[in-house]
Amino acid sequence: MANRVAVVTGSNKGIGLAIVRALCQQFPGDVYVTARDVGRGQEAVASLVSEGLKPKFHQLDINDLNSITTAADYFKEKYGGVDVLVNNAGIAFKVADTTPFAVQAEVTLKTNFFATRDMLTHFLPIIKAGGRVVNVSSFVGSRTLNQCSLALQQRFRSEDITEDELVGLMQQFVDETKKEQHKQGGWPETAYGVSKMGLTTLSMILARRLSKERPNDGILLNACCPGWVRTDMAGPKAPKSPDEGAVTPAYLALMPPGATEPHGKFVSEKEVQSW
Ligand SMILES: NC(=O)c1ccc[n+]([C@@H]2O[C@H](COP(=O)([O-])OP(=O)(O)OC[C@H]3O[C@@H](n4cnc5c(N)ncnc54)[C@H](OP(=O)(O)O)[C@@H]3O)[C@@H](O)[C@H]2O)c1
Repeated sequence: MANRVAVVTGSNKGIGLAIVRALCQQFPGDVYVTARDVGRGQEAVASLVSEGLKPKFHQLDINDLNSITTAADYFKEKYGGVDVLVNNAGIAFKVADTTPFAVQAEVTLKTNFFATRDMLTHFLPIIKAGGRVVNVSSFVGSRTLNQCSLALQQRFRSEDITEDELVGLMQQFVDETKKEQHKQGGWPETAYGVSKMGLTTLSMILARRLSKERPNDGILLNACCPGWVRTDMAGPKAPKSPDEGAVTPAYLALMPPGATEPHGKFVSEKEVQSW
């Protein structure tokens, strides 16, 4: 039987690197650092090797469809699929950044929502039975949901929202920011928050689909928040170390064989949160 394999996106630094460290210590199989930049990825591998760990590396830029399909083909060919996928790669503009909001909206949703969705489109079909999929979202997405119009809240919380409808809503937000109409459209002024609200909702939609289409495969797919973590994204004042931020994502990635929940949930501090 092919070896088991775990893949973490955006794992050359920050929480992703710490998730790879935790999986190298606890996952019975190969664990891949992936990074859009090969040099930064190999430096990360070297730093883990110097700690006595044995990660592997594959290039993966989630904004590049060719890079996604090349990586998916590689894991399919070498391992017969993927056992654990952690979609961790993400971006955020700094609060002080003066880039126009419409540009921030387009760029942030491109990576955090649309590119992560591309990852899921191409990797879900190769997730093996018993696989675990973890989407690193944020509590900011939950806060953003509560700040949306009641009509939008109702859609994001509904059990019958489809992937197409969600994609349409995310695109609608981006389009409305260009016309400065997003506030009238019921959206709060946070591109990062909307992107993570979309990612959490997507996780719930895809989990429902997995349960329907592959009911006997025992795959668990969840979104989570790592907490507020000291990384280049969140800055030095955050209370958690990257290793502490990796605890909940690694917990979900390592749910034991036969576990049936959580699935399709938003999880923080190892606890299912209301949505
Ligand atoms: N830090 C927090 O407090 C916090 C809280 C809630 C959620 N999160 C989420 O946790 C995840 C990790 O954040 P972090 O704090 O560790 O941030 P970070 O230190 O800025 O690391 C982000 C990682 O994502 C990678 N990345 C960005 N765009 C990519 C792309 N197109 N393809 C592949 N990799 C890409 C970056 O690679 P490069 O080095 O090449 O840029 C980097 O490795 C993000 O999804 C973030 O939204 C963080």
